[in-house]
Amino acid sequence: MKKYEIAAIPGDGIGKEVVAAGLRVLDACAQRDGRFDLKVENFPWGSDYYKAYGVLMPEGGIDRLKAFDAIYFGAVGAPDVPDHLTLWGLRLAICQPFDQYANVRPTRILPGIQSPLRGVTADDLDWVIVRENSEGEYAGQGGRSHRGLPEEVATEVSIFTRVGVTRIMRFAFELAQSRPRKLLTVVTKSNAQRHGMVLWDEIAREVAADFPDVTWDKMLVDAMTVRMTLHPKSIDTIVATNLHADILSDLAAALAGSIGIAPTANLNPGRKFPSMFEPIHGSAFDITGKGIANPVGTFWSAVMMLEHLGEPVAAARLMRAIERVTADPALHTPDLGGTATTDMVTDAVCAAILGDNE
Ligand code: IPM
Ligand code: MG
Repeated sequence: MKKYEIAAIPGDGIGKEVVAAGLRVLDACAQRDGRFDLKVENFPWGSDYYKAYGVLMPEGGIDRLKAFDAIYFGAVGAPDVPDHLTLWGLRLAICQPFDQYANVRPTRILPGIQSPLRGVTADDLDWVIVRENSEGEYAGQGGRSHRGLPEEVATEVSIFTRVGVTRIMRFAFELAQSRPRKLLTVVTKSNAQRHGMVLWDEIAREVAADFPDVTWDKMLVDAMTVRMTLHPKSIDTIVATNLHADILSDLAAALAGSIGIAPTANLNPGRKFPSMFEPIHGSAFDITGKGIANPVGTFWSAVMMLEHLGEPVAAARLMRAIERVTADPALHTPDLGGTATTDMVTDAVCAAILGDNE
């Protein structure tokens, strides 16, 4: 029996609720499959930990995570802790040292779910966004001087390296090539940002030469929001910078019906370090503790985790179970306009997995 070691970091707010739900579903996957076991260790890191100990994760936390096969993450962020502290203290403190440079965000309209776009169905919207996840606008370069004085200045410097842009471009072309339409849109803002973004365009052209079977085009990020909204079918795989893809992926999630559904994989493609899987929604303090958080984004993230671990059969089974459940409006949580609870959705997905006879 294969055994995978999973580090669970529920974090803050509804992160705790959806990761607990996700672990139940993963348990059902292992039970139904019978050929692998998941050994889960829980790490109580996040804003509560910060309030108790002054740090979001303990010193040496990264070293403890290194031995795991994957990290299953909930959300981080609390109303009474500055957001830049929680982000840099936990999520980026894991993504950056583990060189999880490829952030992959699939978007589809699942069965039973309505896009807010008139007349747009599952056939019209099937995208994967590849977000550069190690540099760009999130490189952490910059500073503040003359604090509090009238002449105070702050800089926020974007970093684009040839190595960083080439590897994400290669990753995106390979992913596009693996999908039926073999279609990639490279998003930039190279009209206004004439250094880093022009480098991005040049490298796209260089890398494209190695992928003659992939059709690709370039879009400016502002125009991309229009194309996603008005011509969703013209798009398949998208690659964009850290910040541009952050914004586009929220738009994508909303157009597919709810941000509560959207999953993410933070991948270290070379597998030198563990990769991390999480829903893209945040800690959502407005609904925390009510038991109504949509766990589907966390379940779909578990699908990506199982794929990464090398369990495609279990991953496909979990995806089938999710789609069977979303197809039933009685099992929609309030973000989808329904009245179902997190537990009802979780019970239904577990039952669908255990009852799956494919
Ligand atoms: C995301 C989130 C994060 C980000 C937040 C929580 C800082 O919006 O994963 O898209 O901007 O990276
Ligand atoms: Mg975001």
